[in-house]
Amino acid sequence: MEKRIKPYKPGETLISQHRIQKRVREIAQRIAQDYRGKDLVIVGIMKGTYVLLADLTRELYSAGLKTFLVGFITAKSYGSGTVSKKDPNITDQIDIELKNRNVLMVDDIVDTGKTLKTVIESLKKKTLSIRSFVLLSKDERREVSFEPDYYGFKIPNVWVQGYGMDTDEKGRGNRDIIIGEYE
Ligand code: IMP
Ligand code: MG
Repeated sequence: MEKRIKPYKPGETLISQHRIQKRVREIAQRIAQDYRGKDLVIVGIMKGTYVLLADLTRELYSAGLKTFLVGFITAKSYGSGTVSKKDPNITDQIDIELKNRNVLMVDDIVDTGKTLKTVIESLKKKTLSIRSFVLLSKDERREVSFEPDYYGFKIPNVWVQGYGMDTDEKGRGNRDIIIGEYE
């Protein structure tokens, strides 16, 4: 996403539903190609990915990849608000066996990189392969070295909500990704 001078305003649309849909479809087609003929377990990191997963799995199916399994884990790194960042805490075990399977970890945003790095490192040994797809990447916020294998959009260092993502648990239902707003 290109740099701009004007400050972002809360409530402003950063990425429209149309652009999101187009990009998710493009990436699904790539993933479907890469995993053709292989088994695959898609693991979403809750809660921010529930909308993305609904779209991604249907796009994969339409692109011809039909036999993947879907699981979720819960990882939390923000307390209330957007400032109190802690180390990610994985609170739920996944209900699907990942041993000797190809795994695709899906997250809404990669920010410091700690969540995905921690989760992937803890699962890597038992899987056959493990890759990651994130919809948004805030590259300038990275604190650990981490590059997703697939990503939707690079965004600047702004707080966003919508398309499943929240500000203090609110705003997940917006079809567009907007600049975060408190109510
Ligand atoms: P990381 O461990 O710092 O990479 O944090 C990634 C997690 O922080 C994501 O899974 C999101 O849940 C959350 N997060 C980071 N930035 C935002 C944002 O702008 N809006 C909503 N959630 C965010
Ligand atoms: Mg998250």
